[in-house]
Amino acid sequence: MLKLPSVFAIILTQLLLLLAGCQANRALPPAPLAVTPSVALKNNTGAAGLGDPLYPTLGNGGYDVLHYTIDLAVDMQSHAVTGTTTIRAETTQALSSFNLDFQGLQIQKITVNAAPANFQRAASELTITPATPLRNGEQFTTTVAYHGIPRAIDDPGVPFEKIGWLVYQPGIFVISEPSGAMGWYPVNNHPLDKATYTFRITVAKPYIVAANGLLQATFDQGDTRTYLWEMRNPMASYLATIDIAEFKVVTAQGPHQLPLRNYFPPSASQKMLATFDTTGAMLQFYSDLIAPFPFEAYGAVVLDDNFSTALEAQTLSIFGPNTLFDAAVAHELSHQWFGDSVSVKTWRDIWLNEGFATYLENLWVEHTQGQAAFAATMHNLYKSMKDQKLGPPGSPDVQGLFAPATYVRGALTLHALRLRVGDANFFKILRAYYNRYQYGNAATADFIGVAEEVSGEQLDNFFNTWLYADAVPPEPRAP
Ligand code: ARG
Ligand code: ZN
Repeated sequence: MLKLPSVFAIILTQLLLLLAGCQANRALPPAPLAVTPSVALKNNTGAAGLGDPLYPTLGNGGYDVLHYTIDLAVDMQSHAVTGTTTIRAETTQALSSFNLDFQGLQIQKITVNAAPANFQRAASELTITPATPLRNGEQFTTTVAYHGIPRAIDDPGVPFEKIGWLVYQPGIFVISEPSGAMGWYPVNNHPLDKATYTFRITVAKPYIVAANGLLQATFDQGDTRTYLWEMRNPMASYLATIDIAEFKVVTAQGPHQLPLRNYFPPSASQKMLATFDTTGAMLQFYSDLIAPFPFEAYGAVVLDDNFSTALEAQTLSIFGPNTLFDAAVAHELSHQWFGDSVSVKTWRDIWLNEGFATYLENLWVEHTQGQAAFAATMHNLYKSMKDQKLGPPGSPDVQGLFAPATYVRGALTLHALRLRVGDANFFKILRAYYNRYQYGNAATADFIGVAEEVSGEQLDNFFNTWLYADAVPPEPRAP
Protein backbone atom coordinates (compact mmCIF):
# COMPACT_ATOMS: atom_id res chain seq x y z
CA MET A 1 0.00 0.00 0.00
CA LEU A 2 1.20 3.44 -0.77
CA LYS A 3 1.57 5.65 2.27
CA LEU A 4 -0.11 8.88 1.29
CA PRO A 5 -0.07 12.01 3.39
CA SER A 6 -3.42 12.21 5.11
CA VAL A 7 -4.67 15.21 3.21
CA PHE A 8 -4.08 13.41 -0.07
CA ALA A 9 -5.82 10.40 1.32
CA ILE A 10 -8.86 12.48 2.13
CA ILE A 11 -8.88 14.04 -1.33
CA LEU A 12 -8.48 10.59 -2.90
CA THR A 13 -11.29 9.18 -0.82
CA GLN A 14 -13.54 12.07 -1.79
CA LEU A 15 -12.60 11.63 -5.42
CA LEU A 16 -13.49 7.96 -5.26
CA LEU A 17 -16.77 8.73 -3.53
CA LEU A 18 -17.49 11.35 -6.17
CA LEU A 19 -16.75 8.88 -8.95
CA ALA A 20 -18.91 6.30 -7.26
CA GLY A 21 -21.66 8.91 -7.01
CA CYS A 22 -21.39 9.77 -10.71
CA GLN A 23 -21.50 6.10 -11.57
CA ALA A 24 -24.59 5.61 -9.45
CA ASN A 25 -26.26 8.66 -10.97
CA ARG A 26 -25.70 7.37 -14.44
CA ALA A 27 -27.15 3.99 -13.62
CA LEU A 28 -30.11 5.06 -11.52
CA PRO A 29 -32.74 7.78 -11.71
CA PRO A 30 -31.98 10.56 -9.21
CA ALA A 31 -33.11 9.67 -5.72
CA PRO A 32 -36.09 11.65 -4.44
CA LEU A 33 -34.82 14.54 -2.33
CA ALA A 34 -36.77 13.38 0.73
CA VAL A 35 -34.60 10.32 1.16
CA THR A 36 -31.31 12.16 0.51
CA PRO A 37 -29.46 12.21 3.84
CA SER A 38 -29.76 15.72 5.25
CA VAL A 39 -26.23 15.61 6.68
CA ALA A 40 -24.79 15.62 3.19
CA LEU A 41 -26.97 18.53 2.12
CA LYS A 42 -26.01 20.60 5.14
CA ASN A 43 -22.58 21.02 3.61
CA ASN A 44 -23.93 22.52 0.43
CA THR A 45 -23.73 26.10 1.62
CA GLY A 46 -23.00 28.69 -1.04
CA ALA A 47 -19.86 30.74 -0.41
CA ALA A 48 -20.38 34.14 1.24
CA GLY A 49 -18.01 35.83 -1.22
CA LEU A 50 -16.73 35.57 -4.80
CA GLY A 51 -13.05 35.74 -3.96
CA ASP A 52 -12.50 39.38 -4.83
CA PRO A 53 -9.03 40.31 -3.52
CA LEU A 54 -10.21 43.74 -2.31
CA TYR A 55 -13.79 42.88 -1.29
CA PRO A 56 -13.86 39.24 -0.16
CA THR A 57 -17.45 39.41 1.13
CA LEU A 58 -19.00 41.04 -1.95
CA GLY A 59 -20.94 38.65 -4.11
CA ASN A 60 -21.74 35.05 -3.23
CA GLY A 61 -20.97 31.64 -4.64
CA GLY A 62 -23.09 28.73 -5.84
CA TYR A 63 -25.45 30.44 -8.23
CA ASP A 64 -25.62 32.87 -11.09
CA VAL A 65 -28.35 35.53 -11.17
CA LEU A 66 -30.22 35.81 -14.45
CA HIS A 67 -32.72 38.56 -13.66
CA TYR A 68 -33.72 40.99 -10.92
CA THR A 69 -37.20 42.47 -10.65
CA ILE A 70 -37.11 45.36 -8.18
CA ASP A 71 -40.65 46.37 -7.29
CA LEU A 72 -40.70 49.24 -4.81
CA ALA A 73 -43.05 51.96 -3.65
CA VAL A 74 -41.01 54.96 -2.52
CA ASP A 75 -42.46 57.46 -0.07
CA MET A 76 -40.92 60.76 -1.04
CA GLN A 77 -41.68 62.34 2.34
CA SER A 78 -40.02 59.76 4.60
CA HIS A 79 -37.87 58.22 1.83
CA ALA A 80 -39.01 54.78 3.00
CA VAL A 81 -39.46 51.94 0.56
CA THR A 82 -41.87 49.00 0.60
CA GLY A 83 -41.78 46.17 -1.87
CA THR A 84 -40.24 43.02 -3.18
CA THR A 85 -37.15 42.09 -5.12
CA THR A 86 -37.53 38.91 -7.15
CA ILE A 87 -34.39 37.13 -8.28
CA ARG A 88 -34.29 34.46 -10.96
CA ALA A 89 -31.05 32.51 -10.78
CA GLU A 90 -29.39 29.25 -11.71
CA THR A 91 -27.38 27.15 -9.30
CA THR A 92 -23.78 26.22 -10.09
CA GLN A 93 -23.69 23.62 -7.29
CA ALA A 94 -26.18 21.86 -5.04
CA LEU A 95 -27.32 24.35 -2.39
CA SER A 96 -28.83 23.72 1.01
CA SER A 97 -28.40 27.45 1.66
CA PHE A 98 -27.08 30.45 -0.21
CA ASN A 99 -26.30 34.09 0.48
CA LEU A 100 -27.36 37.44 -0.84
CA ASP A 101 -25.78 40.77 0.04
CA PHE A 102 -28.29 43.04 1.75
CA GLN A 103 -27.71 45.72 4.36
CA GLY A 104 -30.26 47.44 6.59
CA LEU A 105 -34.01 47.41 5.83
CA GLN A 106 -36.49 45.04 7.47
CA ILE A 107 -37.29 41.77 5.79
CA GLN A 108 -40.91 40.63 5.96
CA LYS A 109 -40.74 37.40 4.07
CA ILE A 110 -38.51 35.34 1.83
CA THR A 111 -39.61 32.61 -0.52
CA VAL A 112 -37.67 30.19 -2.70
CA ASN A 113 -39.66 28.66 -5.54
CA ALA A 114 -42.80 30.08 -3.91
CA ALA A 115 -42.25 28.25 -0.60
CA PRO A 116 -41.44 30.27 2.53
CA ALA A 117 -37.72 30.06 3.36
CA ASN A 118 -35.75 30.57 6.56
CA PHE A 119 -33.12 33.26 6.71
CA GLN A 120 -30.45 34.72 8.94
CA ARG A 121 -28.64 38.03 8.76
CA ALA A 122 -25.15 39.04 9.85
CA ALA A 123 -23.92 42.47 8.75
CA SER A 124 -24.49 42.57 4.97
CA GLU A 125 -24.72 38.79 4.53
CA LEU A 126 -28.23 37.41 4.19
CA THR A 127 -28.27 33.60 4.35
CA ILE A 128 -31.34 31.93 2.91
CA THR A 129 -32.22 28.30 3.62
CA PRO A 130 -34.87 27.05 1.20
CA ALA A 131 -37.43 24.53 2.49
CA THR A 132 -36.27 22.21 -0.29
CA PRO A 133 -32.55 22.18 -1.12
CA LEU A 134 -31.60 23.15 -4.65
CA ARG A 135 -29.89 20.78 -7.09
CA ASN A 136 -26.92 21.75 -9.23
CA GLY A 137 -27.91 23.39 -12.51
CA GLU A 138 -31.42 24.16 -11.34
CA GLN A 139 -33.16 27.46 -12.07
CA PHE A 140 -34.89 28.94 -9.06
CA THR A 141 -36.74 32.06 -8.02
CA THR A 142 -36.36 33.79 -4.69
CA THR A 143 -38.40 36.73 -3.47
CA VAL A 144 -37.45 39.08 -0.66
CA ALA A 145 -40.22 41.34 0.67
CA TYR A 146 -38.89 44.26 2.68
CA HIS A 147 -39.47 47.78 3.91
CA GLY A 148 -37.69 50.60 5.69
CA ILE A 149 -35.56 53.63 4.94
CA PRO A 150 -32.51 52.68 2.87
CA ARG A 151 -29.30 54.04 4.34
CA ALA A 152 -26.32 55.17 2.30
CA ILE A 153 -23.31 52.88 2.59
CA ASP A 154 -19.80 53.58 3.83
CA ASP A 155 -17.27 51.96 1.55
CA PRO A 156 -13.50 52.11 2.17
CA GLY A 157 -13.03 52.43 -1.61
CA VAL A 158 -14.72 55.84 -1.64
CA PRO A 159 -13.79 57.35 1.73
CA PHE A 160 -14.74 60.82 0.46
CA GLU A 161 -18.48 60.15 0.15
CA LYS A 162 -21.38 57.85 0.94
CA ILE A 163 -22.71 55.63 -1.78
CA GLY A 164 -25.84 53.76 -2.76
CA TRP A 165 -29.23 55.24 -1.96
CA LEU A 166 -28.66 58.98 -1.56
CA VAL A 167 -31.20 61.59 -0.53
CA TYR A 168 -30.93 65.21 -1.66
CA GLN A 169 -33.31 68.14 -1.58
CA PRO A 170 -35.02 67.41 -4.94
CA GLY A 171 -35.41 63.66 -4.27
CA ILE A 172 -33.32 60.51 -4.44
CA PHE A 173 -30.47 59.26 -6.58
CA VAL A 174 -28.47 56.02 -6.56
CA ILE A 175 -24.70 55.93 -7.20
CA SER A 176 -23.37 52.59 -5.94
CA GLU A 177 -19.83 52.04 -7.15
CA PRO A 178 -18.48 49.82 -5.79
CA SER A 179 -20.67 48.25 -3.04
CA GLY A 180 -23.74 50.49 -2.59
CA ALA A 181 -26.36 48.33 -4.36
CA MET A 182 -26.90 46.11 -1.30
CA GLY A 183 -28.28 49.12 0.60
CA TRP A 184 -31.50 49.17 -1.41
CA TYR A 185 -32.02 45.69 -2.89
CA PRO A 186 -30.84 42.15 -2.06
CA VAL A 187 -28.18 41.28 -4.60
CA ASN A 188 -25.25 39.14 -5.62
CA ASN A 189 -23.18 42.28 -5.23
CA HIS A 190 -20.19 41.81 -7.52
CA PRO A 191 -19.60 42.78 -11.16
CA LEU A 192 -18.79 39.15 -11.99
CA ASP A 193 -22.48 38.24 -11.70
CA LYS A 194 -24.16 40.49 -14.25
CA ALA A 195 -27.88 40.15 -14.86
CA THR A 196 -30.80 41.84 -16.60
CA TYR A 197 -33.21 44.01 -14.60
CA THR A 198 -36.83 45.12 -14.35
CA PHE A 199 -37.59 48.16 -12.18
CA ARG A 200 -41.19 48.77 -11.12
CA ILE A 201 -41.08 51.93 -9.03
CA THR A 202 -44.12 53.70 -7.61
CA VAL A 203 -44.02 57.31 -6.42
CA ALA A 204 -46.47 60.09 -5.67
CA LYS A 205 -47.11 62.61 -8.44
CA PRO A 206 -45.50 64.79 -9.66
CA TYR A 207 -42.26 62.90 -9.05
CA ILE A 208 -40.60 61.25 -12.03
CA VAL A 209 -38.53 58.05 -11.90
CA ALA A 210 -35.54 57.52 -14.17
CA ALA A 211 -33.76 54.15 -14.26
CA ASN A 212 -31.53 52.03 -16.50
CA GLY A 213 -32.69 50.95 -19.93
CA LEU A 214 -36.03 51.65 -21.57
CA LEU A 215 -39.14 53.11 -19.97
CA GLN A 216 -41.70 50.52 -21.08
CA ALA A 217 -44.82 51.91 -19.45
CA THR A 218 -46.22 54.12 -16.73
CA PHE A 219 -49.33 53.17 -14.76
CA ASP A 220 -51.51 55.87 -13.31
CA GLN A 221 -53.16 55.19 -9.95
CA GLY A 222 -54.61 58.65 -9.30
CA ASP A 223 -52.22 60.08 -6.71
CA THR A 224 -49.35 57.79 -7.60
CA ARG A 225 -47.66 56.61 -10.75
CA THR A 226 -45.67 53.43 -11.41
CA TYR A 227 -42.68 53.53 -13.76
CA LEU A 228 -41.72 50.31 -15.50
CA TRP A 229 -38.12 50.27 -16.71
CA GLU A 230 -36.33 47.39 -18.41
CA MET A 231 -32.60 46.76 -18.74
CA ARG A 232 -32.37 43.91 -21.23
CA ASN A 233 -28.58 43.65 -21.34
CA PRO A 234 -26.48 42.19 -18.53
CA MET A 235 -25.57 44.81 -15.94
CA ALA A 236 -23.24 44.91 -12.93
CA SER A 237 -25.05 45.73 -9.67
CA TYR A 238 -23.11 48.95 -9.05
CA LEU A 239 -24.48 50.35 -12.31
CA ALA A 240 -28.13 49.90 -11.36
CA THR A 241 -29.76 53.23 -10.58
CA ILE A 242 -33.12 54.77 -9.87
CA ASP A 243 -33.32 58.53 -9.70
CA ILE A 244 -36.39 60.33 -8.45
CA ALA A 245 -37.10 64.07 -8.65
CA GLU A 246 -39.38 66.50 -10.47
CA PHE A 247 -37.11 66.34 -13.47
CA LYS A 248 -37.24 68.31 -16.67
CA VAL A 249 -37.07 65.49 -19.23
CA VAL A 250 -35.48 66.16 -22.62
CA THR A 251 -35.63 63.44 -25.26
CA ALA A 252 -33.85 63.24 -28.58
CA GLN A 253 -32.48 60.70 -31.05
CA GLY A 254 -28.85 59.70 -31.39
CA PRO A 255 -27.13 57.99 -34.32
CA HIS A 256 -29.03 54.91 -35.61
CA GLN A 257 -32.23 56.13 -33.89
CA LEU A 258 -30.76 55.48 -30.44
CA PRO A 259 -33.26 56.92 -27.93
CA LEU A 260 -31.66 59.64 -25.82
CA ARG A 261 -33.33 60.84 -22.63
CA ASN A 262 -31.79 63.39 -20.30
CA TYR A 263 -33.11 64.22 -16.84
CA PHE A 264 -32.39 67.74 -15.60
CA PRO A 265 -33.35 69.69 -12.52
CA PRO A 266 -36.51 71.69 -13.31
CA SER A 267 -34.50 74.91 -12.99
CA ALA A 268 -31.83 73.80 -15.50
CA SER A 269 -30.17 76.70 -17.28
CA GLN A 270 -29.67 76.81 -21.05
CA LYS A 271 -25.98 76.28 -20.35
CA MET A 272 -26.66 73.13 -18.35
CA LEU A 273 -28.90 71.73 -21.08
CA ALA A 274 -26.27 72.58 -23.71
CA THR A 275 -23.63 70.48 -21.91
CA PHE A 276 -25.13 67.43 -23.60
CA ASP A 277 -25.51 68.84 -27.11
CA THR A 278 -22.41 66.92 -28.16
CA THR A 279 -23.72 63.49 -27.03
CA GLY A 280 -24.80 62.48 -30.54
CA ALA A 281 -21.43 63.36 -32.05
CA MET A 282 -19.61 61.54 -29.25
CA LEU A 283 -21.77 58.45 -29.74
CA GLN A 284 -20.85 58.49 -33.42
CA PHE A 285 -17.15 58.95 -32.62
CA TYR A 286 -16.88 56.10 -30.08
CA SER A 287 -19.07 53.79 -32.18
CA ASP A 288 -16.74 54.29 -35.15
CA LEU A 289 -13.67 53.91 -32.96
CA ILE A 290 -14.68 50.84 -30.90
CA ALA A 291 -17.97 49.16 -31.80
CA PRO A 292 -21.67 50.06 -32.04
CA PHE A 293 -23.11 51.51 -28.81
CA PRO A 294 -23.81 48.42 -26.65
CA PHE A 295 -27.23 49.28 -25.21
CA GLU A 296 -30.78 50.28 -26.17
CA ALA A 297 -30.74 53.89 -24.96
CA TYR A 298 -28.50 56.53 -23.47
CA GLY A 299 -28.78 59.73 -21.50
CA ALA A 300 -27.87 61.62 -18.37
CA VAL A 301 -29.26 62.49 -14.98
CA VAL A 302 -28.04 65.86 -13.70
CA LEU A 303 -28.04 66.47 -9.96
CA ASP A 304 -28.39 69.97 -8.62
CA ASP A 305 -26.55 69.12 -5.45
CA ASN A 306 -22.92 69.88 -4.74
CA PHE A 307 -22.06 66.26 -5.37
CA SER A 308 -18.76 66.36 -7.19
CA THR A 309 -18.72 62.92 -8.73
CA ALA A 310 -20.18 61.26 -11.78
CA LEU A 311 -21.08 57.65 -12.46
CA GLU A 312 -21.45 55.76 -15.71
CA ALA A 313 -24.73 54.07 -14.68
CA GLN A 314 -25.61 51.74 -17.57
CA THR A 315 -27.46 53.74 -20.27
CA LEU A 316 -27.94 56.62 -17.79
CA SER A 317 -24.80 58.43 -16.65
CA ILE A 318 -25.20 60.58 -13.55
CA PHE A 319 -23.48 63.94 -13.24
CA GLY A 320 -22.94 66.18 -10.23
CA PRO A 321 -22.88 69.91 -11.03
CA ASN A 322 -19.07 70.02 -10.90
CA THR A 323 -18.80 67.44 -13.66
CA LEU A 324 -20.72 69.29 -16.36
CA PHE A 325 -17.97 69.66 -18.93
CA ASP A 326 -17.18 68.03 -22.25
CA ALA A 327 -14.39 65.74 -21.03
CA ALA A 328 -16.56 64.33 -18.23
CA VAL A 329 -19.46 63.78 -20.63
CA ALA A 330 -17.06 61.90 -22.95
CA HIS A 331 -15.56 60.00 -19.99
CA GLU A 332 -18.89 58.62 -18.74
CA LEU A 333 -20.04 57.82 -22.27
CA SER A 334 -16.88 55.87 -23.06
CA HIS A 335 -17.42 53.84 -19.85
CA GLN A 336 -20.53 52.39 -21.50
CA TRP A 337 -18.12 50.30 -23.61
CA PHE A 338 -15.32 49.98 -21.03
CA GLY A 339 -16.77 49.38 -17.58
CA ASP A 340 -20.40 48.67 -18.39
CA SER A 341 -20.32 46.32 -21.39
CA VAL A 342 -16.83 45.00 -20.60
CA SER A 343 -16.81 44.88 -16.79
CA VAL A 344 -14.01 44.13 -14.39
CA LYS A 345 -13.50 40.59 -13.12
CA THR A 346 -12.26 41.91 -9.77
CA TRP A 347 -12.16 45.38 -8.28
CA ARG A 348 -8.38 45.22 -8.52
CA ASP A 349 -8.80 45.54 -12.31
CA ILE A 350 -10.33 49.01 -11.92
CA TRP A 351 -7.79 50.68 -14.24
CA LEU A 352 -9.52 48.78 -17.08
CA ASN A 353 -12.45 51.10 -16.36
CA GLU A 354 -10.89 54.36 -15.27
CA GLY A 355 -7.66 54.33 -17.27
CA PHE A 356 -9.65 53.49 -20.40
CA ALA A 357 -12.33 56.16 -19.85
CA THR A 358 -9.66 58.75 -19.08
CA TYR A 359 -7.76 57.88 -22.25
CA LEU A 360 -10.93 57.75 -24.35
CA GLU A 361 -12.06 61.14 -23.06
CA ASN A 362 -8.75 62.46 -24.40
CA LEU A 363 -9.26 60.72 -27.73
CA TRP A 364 -12.35 62.92 -28.03
CA VAL A 365 -10.07 65.90 -27.40
CA GLU A 366 -7.76 64.64 -30.15
CA HIS A 367 -10.73 64.21 -32.48
CA THR A 368 -12.27 67.63 -31.83
CA GLN A 369 -9.24 69.81 -31.04
CA GLY A 370 -6.51 68.18 -33.06
CA GLN A 371 -3.09 66.64 -32.56
CA ALA A 372 -1.40 69.60 -30.88
CA ALA A 373 -4.09 69.99 -28.21
CA PHE A 374 -4.03 66.24 -27.59
CA ALA A 375 -0.24 66.11 -27.32
CA ALA A 376 -0.32 69.01 -24.85
CA THR A 377 -2.96 67.25 -22.73
CA MET A 378 -1.00 64.01 -22.66
CA HIS A 379 2.17 65.87 -21.73
CA ASN A 380 0.37 67.62 -18.86
CA LEU A 381 -1.07 64.33 -17.71
CA TYR A 382 2.44 62.85 -17.70
CA LYS A 383 3.81 65.84 -15.77
CA SER A 384 1.13 65.51 -13.12
CA MET A 385 1.90 61.80 -12.83
CA LYS A 386 5.59 62.50 -12.43
CA ASP A 387 5.13 65.42 -10.00
CA GLN A 388 2.83 63.35 -7.81
CA LYS A 389 4.98 60.21 -8.26
CA LEU A 390 1.81 58.28 -9.05
CA GLY A 391 2.26 54.61 -8.29
CA PRO A 392 1.35 51.69 -10.52
CA PRO A 393 -2.39 51.21 -11.23
CA GLY A 394 -2.28 47.42 -11.77
CA SER A 395 -2.94 46.23 -8.22
CA PRO A 396 -4.35 49.01 -6.05
CA ASP A 397 -5.47 48.51 -2.47
CA VAL A 398 -9.03 49.44 -1.56
CA GLN A 399 -8.12 53.04 -0.73
CA GLY A 400 -6.37 53.42 -4.07
CA LEU A 401 -9.26 52.25 -6.24
CA PHE A 402 -10.31 55.71 -7.41
CA ALA A 403 -7.00 57.46 -6.79
CA PRO A 404 -5.26 59.51 -9.51
CA ALA A 405 -2.88 56.61 -10.22
CA THR A 406 -5.83 54.56 -11.52
CA TYR A 407 -7.02 57.32 -13.83
CA VAL A 408 -3.85 59.10 -14.87
CA ARG A 409 -1.23 56.37 -14.95
CA GLY A 410 -3.92 54.02 -16.30
CA ALA A 411 -4.59 56.38 -19.22
CA LEU A 412 -0.88 56.91 -19.82
CA THR A 413 -0.38 53.14 -19.93
CA LEU A 414 -2.69 53.05 -22.93
CA HIS A 415 -0.98 56.05 -24.48
CA ALA A 416 2.43 54.41 -24.05
CA LEU A 417 1.07 51.20 -25.57
CA ARG A 418 -0.22 53.15 -28.56
CA LEU A 419 3.18 54.75 -29.15
CA ARG A 420 4.88 51.40 -28.68
CA VAL A 421 2.77 49.32 -31.11
CA GLY A 422 1.59 52.08 -33.47
CA ASP A 423 -1.88 53.48 -34.14
CA ALA A 424 -3.10 50.67 -36.40
CA ASN A 425 -2.22 47.93 -33.92
CA PHE A 426 -3.39 49.95 -30.92
CA PHE A 427 -6.90 50.55 -32.22
CA LYS A 428 -7.07 46.94 -33.39
CA ILE A 429 -6.21 45.92 -29.83
CA LEU A 430 -8.96 48.11 -28.34
CA ARG A 431 -11.54 46.71 -30.76
CA ALA A 432 -10.45 43.09 -30.36
CA TYR A 433 -10.45 43.37 -26.57
CA TYR A 434 -13.89 44.97 -26.61
CA ASN A 435 -15.35 42.45 -29.02
CA ARG A 436 -14.04 39.51 -27.06
CA TYR A 437 -15.31 40.63 -23.65
CA GLN A 438 -18.41 42.73 -24.45
CA TYR A 439 -21.42 42.07 -22.17
CA GLY A 440 -19.04 40.11 -19.92
CA ASN A 441 -15.97 40.56 -17.73
CA ALA A 442 -12.25 40.93 -18.22
CA ALA A 443 -9.15 41.05 -16.05
CA THR A 444 -5.88 42.85 -16.70
CA ALA A 445 -4.28 39.63 -17.96
CA ASP A 446 -7.06 39.33 -20.55
CA PHE A 447 -6.21 42.76 -21.93
CA ILE A 448 -2.49 42.01 -21.98
CA GLY A 449 -3.27 38.76 -23.79
CA VAL A 450 -5.17 40.58 -26.55
CA ALA A 451 -2.46 43.25 -26.82
CA GLU A 452 0.23 40.59 -27.35
CA GLU A 453 -1.90 38.54 -29.69
CA VAL A 454 -2.82 41.47 -31.94
CA SER A 455 0.58 43.18 -31.96
CA GLY A 456 2.58 39.96 -32.10
CA GLU A 457 4.91 41.47 -29.49
CA GLN A 458 6.07 40.24 -26.11
CA LEU A 459 4.73 42.95 -23.80
CA ASP A 460 5.38 41.57 -20.29
CA ASN A 461 8.13 44.06 -19.59
CA PHE A 462 6.13 46.90 -20.99
CA PHE A 463 3.07 46.19 -18.83
CA ASN A 464 5.17 45.43 -15.75
CA THR A 465 6.83 48.82 -16.06
CA TRP A 466 3.55 50.67 -16.41
CA LEU A 467 1.12 48.66 -14.31
CA TYR A 468 3.13 47.04 -11.53
CA ALA A 469 6.50 48.76 -10.96
CA ASP A 470 6.73 51.61 -8.46
CA ALA A 471 9.08 53.81 -10.50
CA VAL A 472 7.43 56.37 -12.75
CA PRO A 473 8.26 55.26 -16.32
CA PRO A 474 9.87 57.71 -18.75
CA GLU A 475 7.51 59.87 -20.79
CA PRO A 476 6.00 57.85 -23.63
CA ARG A 477 7.32 59.00 -27.03
CA ALA A 478 6.79 57.92 -30.58
CA PRO A 479 9.76 55.77 -31.71
N1 ARG B 1 -16.70 55.55 -12.09
C1 ARG B 1 -16.72 56.93 -11.65
C2 ARG B 1 -15.94 57.72 -12.69
O1 ARG B 1 -16.29 57.72 -13.80
C3 ARG B 1 -16.15 57.08 -10.30
C4 ARG B 1 -17.09 56.63 -9.23
C5 ARG B 1 -16.46 56.52 -7.90
N2 ARG B 1 -17.41 56.04 -6.98
C6 ARG B 1 -18.28 56.85 -6.39
N3 ARG B 1 -19.15 56.31 -5.59
N4 ARG B 1 -18.24 58.12 -6.58
O2 ARG B 1 -14.93 58.31 -12.48
ZN1 ZN C 1 -14.59 56.92 -14.76
